[in-house]
Amino acid sequence: MQTNTSILTFPNDLPRAVSLIQSGECVAVKTETVYGLAADASNENAVKAIFKAKGRPASNPLIVHIASIDDMEKWARDIPERAYLLAKHYWPGPLSLLLKKQPWVSDTVTGGQDTVVLRIPSSDDFLALIASSGRGLAAPSANKYKFISPTNAEHVLASLNGRISAVVDGGKAEVGIESTIIDVTTDTPLILRPGPIDHHSLSVVLGCDVKYKNDGGVTVPGSVLQHYQPNTPVKLLSRTELESKTFSFEEGVISFSPMSLSVMQDNHIQLPSTPAEFSQSFYDALHQIDKKRLTCVFIEALPNTDAWLALNNRVSRVAAS
Ligand code: TXA
Ligand code: MG
Repeated sequence: MQTNTSILTFPNDLPRAVSLIQSGECVAVKTETVYGLAADASNENAVKAIFKAKGRPASNPLIVHIASIDDMEKWARDIPERAYLLAKHYWPGPLSLLLKKQPWVSDTVTGGQDTVVLRIPSSDDFLALIASSGRGLAAPSANKYKFISPTNAEHVLASLNGRISAVVDGGKAEVGIESTIIDVTTDTPLILRPGPIDHHSLSVVLGCDVKYKNDGGVTVPGSVLQHYQPNTPVKLLSRTELESKTFSFEEGVISFSPMSLSVMQDNHIQLPSTPAEFSQSFYDALHQIDKKRLTCVFIEALPNTDAWLALNNRVSRVAAS
């Protein structure tokens, strides 16, 4: 068992990170969405090490990150034209495509599914690591199972210090929430996880209807209701409820509407009121609240509009009990 995790920075430490990946170790690295925990997707033991470090169930598959559209065929078969359309439009970027897998892709990566999810991320650090190591890199978010996703290197260490070889400190992840996942194997493309790229934009680019997969069951194996959770208990309250509440000094608030509350000022995190800017700081706000060891954090219920859909998806899981 490693006792601590090296902190690397690129470009200086790129050769060291590449050699760790090539010898089957896990390295956390910034993507534009959140930090990912990367390992060689074609090395069975390396992929198993990701599951072990996170404490993640084996049935919950991993996204394979590649550096070029030409690499899609290494991992996926029967790739429909619309997958190339999306890849050319959005990659590198926060869109993950679910495709039929090539037979050789290991069940450990896909959680036993007949499909594989692919993405070209846009962060320079991650692209350099994929290209220089010359392989596809499996990477879930770099946090313990069900815990808050990390948007900087400190968040990664709060969760995985001593459990992984290294983290590449590339500063803050710009987008702040996980990629949109879309299944393009079905007649009507299905959004499996809402994210930074929204339904409208996808249907315009594809020139066809796009639906949300919402069959009442667990659609994406990892989409359990309790997810992205801080250690601090969370409750959702409306603005009016927050404004009329009397808070104890051990309670905190995360809000997006400017408001003055009876909560201690240090325990009130006021986030920006646009969805894109809120996303950039939301997980960091949860990490900050956890450090204060409060008895409860109240999150202002978000607007029920399309623009806030991906964030409502995350907030409802953060608050699920
Ligand atoms: O932005 C992101 O997507 C980040 C960065 C690191 O790329 N990754 C990320 O990975 O959020 P993870 O493992 O935390 O979430 C990926 C989700 C999981 O819920 C997983 O079940 C689903 O994608 N997934 C992956 N492969 C799948 C497959 N073959 N079939 C169905 N769902 C799949
Ligand atoms: Mg995750």
